[in-house]
Amino acid sequence: MSDISTRYLGLARKAPLVASASPLCESVPNIRELEDAGVGAVVLPSLFEEQLELESSAWDDDLWRGAESYPESQPLLPDLRNYNLGPDGYLDLIEGAKAAVDIPVIASLNGVSPGGWAEYARLMAEAGADAMELNIYSIVTEPAESAVEVEKGYVDLVRQIKRTVRVPVAVKLSPFFSAPANIAMRLDDAGADGLVLFNRFYQPDFDVESLEVVPRLTLSHPDELLLRLHWAAILSDHVEADLAITGGVHSAIDVVKCILAGASVAMMASALLQKGIHHAFSVLTDLHRWLEEHEYDSVRQMCGCMSRRSVPDPTAFERGNYMRGLSSYTSRSGALNH
Ligand SMILES: Cc1cc2nc3c(=O)[nH]c(=O)nc-3n(C[C@H](O)[C@H](O)[C@H](O)COP(=O)(O)O)c2cc1C
Repeated sequence: MSDISTRYLGLARKAPLVASASPLCESVPNIRELEDAGVGAVVLPSLFEEQLELESSAWDDDLWRGAESYPESQPLLPDLRNYNLGPDGYLDLIEGAKAAVDIPVIASLNGVSPGGWAEYARLMAEAGADAMELNIYSIVTEPAESAVEVEKGYVDLVRQIKRTVRVPVAVKLSPFFSAPANIAMRLDDAGADGLVLFNRFYQPDFDVESLEVVPRLTLSHPDELLLRLHWAAILSDHVEADLAITGGVHSAIDVVKCILAGASVAMMASALLQKGIHHAFSVLTDLHRWLEEHEYDSVRQMCGCMSRRSVPDPTAFERGNYMRGLSSYTSRSGALNH
């Protein structure tokens, strides 16, 4: 049987499939089931910077009494006190998961600004987290704030967390940078042990009847994987940090593509939420079969075989692909040939 073990964040994983942060990983019984299904690690849902700042702030409960009870000038915040179990419940979840399973448990912090809240990473590590995933989810709406300032904040935050904990730290990133390779390299230099490509953005929708902006969360489609493969194939030649791909991983072939691009692991959330935890077992069974049919002894043997540097035509990842993509459509489309 082929060897599907891998290394991610300096830790041995028995499989290159990781359960990405989602409500599925919010309970110990689910985490145990995910281990039984064969996943290599689990990422717990994120704790938010706002939750942690709230804990340490002097804000009183009036803030949470509802929109009617405080002036319009006050920000309207969702009640985050108990979201994802809240800060105390989160530490209990880490401890419970660590006691229940042997696979690595990765805690997740979601924030953007360097600050006191990042100290919480130390408590997560003390509670037993094997690694940290730092989800930098930022929407910069202030025109005066430049990309240089924003990126410096990210790099400073990673440095701060790295100084705070000894466990490996992965950074979950957005694809929306003018120069993704540059920020990836700077985060790598700042000590990030892993880069997780990429955050999905949950843009709000418009309710045209009530004229309200409403949250909208849709699960992913496998097409979303292509953007991630593209950047993993480019970045794997340039950074020391291990790469993980999240976004559009639904099948064993998707996992194969992630590894070929140079990622150490593929992460899955939507497909598990849609099909159930047992889907992870089917994916890993199919992965074994695929490796045997294609005569690979191990996952590591094929890692990076389709990185930008390894493929015969690297322009496939550059502007050449853009032009080829557009022209391939017109030449295939019968209607356009008439
Ligand atoms: C319901 C739901 C909750 C999620 N919660 C988190 C979270 O707390 N922290 C985080 O970093 N990502 C979170 N994600 C994003 C996933 O971890 C993952 O990166 C994203 O869904 C893309 O992977 P997929 O295509 O396999 O779904 C969540 C996704 C879903 C669908």
